[in-house]
Amino acid sequence: MASAAAPAFHQSSLDSSSGGGAALNAPKPVSVKELLDSSTDSSTAIPTNYNTSSFLNEPAVSEPDDQESIPVIDFGLLTSPDPNQRSQAVQDLTKACEEWGFFLLVNHGVPESLMKETVEACDRFLNQTMEEKLKFAGRDVWEPIRFGTSIDIKVAANCFLWRDFLKLFVHPHFNAPTKPEGLSEVVQEYSKRTRQVVQELLRGISEGLGMERGFIEKAMNFESGFQLFAANLYPPCPQPELAMGIPAHADHGLLTILIQNGVDGLQIQHKGKWFSAKPIPNSLVVNTADQLDIFTNGKYKSIMHRAVVNSKSARMSIAVAHGPSLDTEVSPSPELMEKEGRPAVFKPMKYKEYMELQQTKPTPGVPCSELIRIRTP
Ligand code: OGA
Ligand code: NI
Repeated sequence: MASAAAPAFHQSSLDSSSGGGAALNAPKPVSVKELLDSSTDSSTAIPTNYNTSSFLNEPAVSEPDDQESIPVIDFGLLTSPDPNQRSQAVQDLTKACEEWGFFLLVNHGVPESLMKETVEACDRFLNQTMEEKLKFAGRDVWEPIRFGTSIDIKVAANCFLWRDFLKLFVHPHFNAPTKPEGLSEVVQEYSKRTRQVVQELLRGISEGLGMERGFIEKAMNFESGFQLFAANLYPPCPQPELAMGIPAHADHGLLTILIQNGVDGLQIQHKGKWFSAKPIPNSLVVNTADQLDIFTNGKYKSIMHRAVVNSKSARMSIAVAHGPSLDTEVSPSPELMEKEGRPAVFKPMKYKEYMELQQTKPTPGVPCSELIRIRTP
């Protein structure tokens, strides 16, 4: 999940004239969709406050080496009754977490139709009238249903991102808007399925660490774990090279699961370089996040990633963050530290406080876990 409170919406900003000039006029944060809808000239330049290129300083994307490709994990093997198959899958998963922190999950059992319906239902929500969406335009990050735009990045005042979002707390308590019809049901079912997938992945990861299957689940109180569902809409951008969907960040939970509407835009950092992540159709994109990094004492690093925009098609992604329960104090696992003979590199912090820290002090490009680091590995 990208962090931070959304800037407040100002209904008046929707009234601002588009000026008929070179740039779309957005003096205050406004949903990107409404910004575009209010413009009469589709080939126009983006407003200067959406131009993040000069200070975000995001490094260019590299071509992957021939030798290297994003790992693909077969969930079917991970849940296989055949111990040899399962053990191979655990090894593959362990390698993917150690070397990439990112993988594509195939044979995951989440129905293709459910994935499609989830994307479509969120698309319908984000394409409703502004009036309908503004009912959920809270600033507080603890609002269980929140529509917003951008994130409150602190790199510069009045700087916005090319992204609208809907964020829902879906576990341990489920929240969703009642409109549009069908959204709530489909989000609930999809979130339930991704939780089950994550639970199984955490079991495999625990085994790969040489622990018993329920090791991470138990320590993180996953049964009452916090699950945050986020739908991101990145409308086509007239000057994609100047704008950013979400700048470089790490997610706050244990594992994030992402799907998209067939339009690429996710980029990941691997060995200091940036790569475009092109998911296999119907795969789930999985990345390791901060709480797993902290719990494994830096063994499984939280992966840095970002979302870029394009001029041709609207992109929609659904990112579901799966974390410990909010009251769990997460620290490097004493059992793992003993096993590996390494002292703690992070200080303990309650997950809820960590999330607040991440929301209030986002520095693009720097993972929030750096704020609680006590030594380099
Ligand atoms: C996020 C995120 C990436 C994307 O929501 O945290 O990283 O491709 N999204 O939308
Ligand atoms: Ni993210």
